[in-house]
Amino acid sequence: MPVVLVIGAQWGDEGKGKLVDYLAQEAHLVARYQGGHNAGHTVVINDEMFVLHLIPSGILHEGTLCVIGNGVVVEPGCLLKEIQGLRQRGVRVSEENLLISARAHLIMPYHMALEAAQEAQRGSGRIGTTGRGIGPAYVDKAARVGLRMADLLRPQQFRQKLQANLEAANRQLKAMGGKGFSSQGIYEQYMRYAEALAPHITDTAEVLHSYIQQRKNILLEGAQGTLLDVDHGTYPYVTSSNASAGGACTGLGIGPTQVGHVLGVAKAYTTRVGEGPFPTELQEPLGHLLRERGGEYGATTGRPRRCGWLDLVALRYAVRVNGLSALAITKLDILDELKEIRLCTAYPLEGARLSSFPADAWALRHCRPQYETLKGWQQSTRGITRFEDLPQEAQVYLRTIEEYTGARVELISTGQRRQELIVLREQFRNGQEAV
Ligand code: IMP
Repeated sequence: MPVVLVIGAQWGDEGKGKLVDYLAQEAHLVARYQGGHNAGHTVVINDEMFVLHLIPSGILHEGTLCVIGNGVVVEPGCLLKEIQGLRQRGVRVSEENLLISARAHLIMPYHMALEAAQEAQRGSGRIGTTGRGIGPAYVDKAARVGLRMADLLRPQQFRQKLQANLEAANRQLKAMGGKGFSSQGIYEQYMRYAEALAPHITDTAEVLHSYIQQRKNILLEGAQGTLLDVDHGTYPYVTSSNASAGGACTGLGIGPTQVGHVLGVAKAYTTRVGEGPFPTELQEPLGHLLRERGGEYGATTGRPRRCGWLDLVALRYAVRVNGLSALAITKLDILDELKEIRLCTAYPLEGARLSSFPADAWALRHCRPQYETLKGWQQSTRGITRFEDLPQEAQVYLRTIEEYTGARVELISTGQRRQELIVLREQFRNGQEAV
């Protein structure tokens, strides 16, 4: 490989889980670098469905080391539940195949309570978060008061920091009409978590460096997507971490020169959950058709996803912001029935064509997307594994994406299962027959 980074090129839910699972077959190490249990990666193996929130999908491969990096915010109760759930289904999880950075920050119960109160106060201006306490945990990190995995291993230090943080959190909660927390209960609960997680906590950057030095295959797995990135996304309707390629370096403690290949994953159409502008959003009945055919309901919250046409302006932006080496297009088969398929190619605003993806939500909300209309293929692409077996119209659709974004399409997913995939890059073929 050796170091391949897989990121979401849209608003998350692009089907990264399946791609990472496929690429993980050849990986010695798979690492997550940002976000928390707001993510939900669905992987189907032998008709068995696994939904992972914090643990990299590499855990499903015997002999692959999984790393939760320093950039991730971890709710330890959720992590332990996920570990238990995997063990119950016969997946081995131990300190030999799951490591957590000592520098990763903890999500605390008051983070979730603060977020709920803040979202309620925002009213119609709410962000529509997943309600997992992600934002407030990153606020504490940036304010330099956050509790980290390393603190779990020092009870005295943990108790002192917890008390100070809790005083501040309780003051805020009460000011918003909420109830405060008692420190003893949280302390005891987190010390139980500490006991269970201690063997997994280590300096994961050191482990990564040693794997890089040995030229082992490493896969870095992004959560959410570029348009939810706190810097480059549709601010303020974003998550609180750097979901774009840059986040992999800061979130794992490696340098940009060590990343060899950056693969951006995009659906053949677009979805988003939560609030915020979405220029190509479809109203009913087409939006409904995509939602039902694509099973577009949140893996973490079950919320229905908003659906729309593929937005090539946004995708070209993602190619640039992430320095994408290539694209993977997922869920092509969901478009199989459509007579016509539209692709957004420009965003005119007040009569002028915008030269780039706008920074402000107002412009995104008020631009009027311009479309190119292509003929649909109206036949099944389900399970196709060779590009030349795709209907001509589907090939044209994919070539138009390449032309407009300037990025090569190297992988095309044609179904939920691991093997329902067209692989156009030799390096990723994993023993698949060459085309
Ligand atoms: P938060 O990450 O819970 O703070 O939510 C902020 C925004 O990111 C909301 O619009 C969420 O719906 C969205 N979001 C967070 N995680 C995901 C994800 O894994 N997929 C899609 N959207 C997400």
